[in-house]
Amino acid sequence: MQNAGIEALGLNWRYTAFETRPYDLAAAIEGARAMRFIGLNLTVPHKLLAVDLMDELDESARVWGAVNTVRFEGRGADGDWLPLGQWKGGEILKVRTRGFNTDADAITHTLRDDLQCELSGASVLLLGAGGAGRVAALKLAAEGVGRLWLVNRTASKAERIGAEIRTDFPNVAVEIGYPNQDVDLILNATSLGLKPDDPSPLDEGKYPINRAAAVYDMIYRPARTRLLQSAQSGDCRMANGTGMLLHQGAKALEIWSGKPAPLGAMRVALESHLHEH
Ligand code: ATR
Repeated sequence: MQNAGIEALGLNWRYTAFETRPYDLAAAIEGARAMRFIGLNLTVPHKLLAVDLMDELDESARVWGAVNTVRFEGRGADGDWLPLGQWKGGEILKVRTRGFNTDADAITHTLRDDLQCELSGASVLLLGAGGAGRVAALKLAAEGVGRLWLVNRTASKAERIGAEIRTDFPNVAVEIGYPNQDVDLILNATSLGLKPDDPSPLDEGKYPINRAAAVYDMIYRPARTRLLQSAQSGDCRMANGTGMLLHQGAKALEIWSGKPAPLGAMRVALESHLHEH
């Protein structure tokens, strides 16, 4: 996806995957800085650890307390800092890191693009209260959903997020447990569905799926989890997490390059990769 985007922008860059351990994260970032990398994406479990390793934090990383995108910035002889991906020539005297988070915006982007979901005033059942669930809950609240139900295997985690929302977003009516009304959206942020034998994260005995107008599963592989299969037979609008993956990556490419991401080329590459593997 990133390499297709890079090529469509006409940039002479390459995007490559590296594996590193949490205890080596600081050294890995230092190495990338020393080698004049343009940027990095970080995934689990590095997103939280990286917050304390950045020279600068963008507002997005500060708000979500996690970094999934690092931009290397250089200082030239004129004293100004510029992203290395937008460097105009001249000697780079010093390089610093700036951490961003593009995950939260990707959630609302994909819900609008792929499900035509208008979040303001919406009623949402959110499944999952882990890392992804917390970001989703807070992002939905920040977007002004009207009512939010939080369901999680470990109820205490949902309670904690509920308390956070009641404090920070008092206009959102948040409850723990299944709704007693129809909802505009069910959003799965649990990891249930990643493995072929996983049950659905939705207990349909407690809440039939056809009470939801739309269903979104953050999982993108497999493309049709048990939850989405059920949504399909229940005749709900539905989408998997491919769009979320696309949008967090597209935003990262914009942060590095300073140019609008070529979404079409990136989506084609992502979908063909997901279907091949
Ligand atoms: P992520 O960063 O992807 O959110 P996580 O923080 O480990 O990963 O969260 C995983 C989520 O999936 C949690 O909501 C977890 O429920 P618990 O908080 O009770 O652990 C949920 N989950 C994982 N396995 C599950 C299972 N077998 N049954 C129900 N929920 C499960």
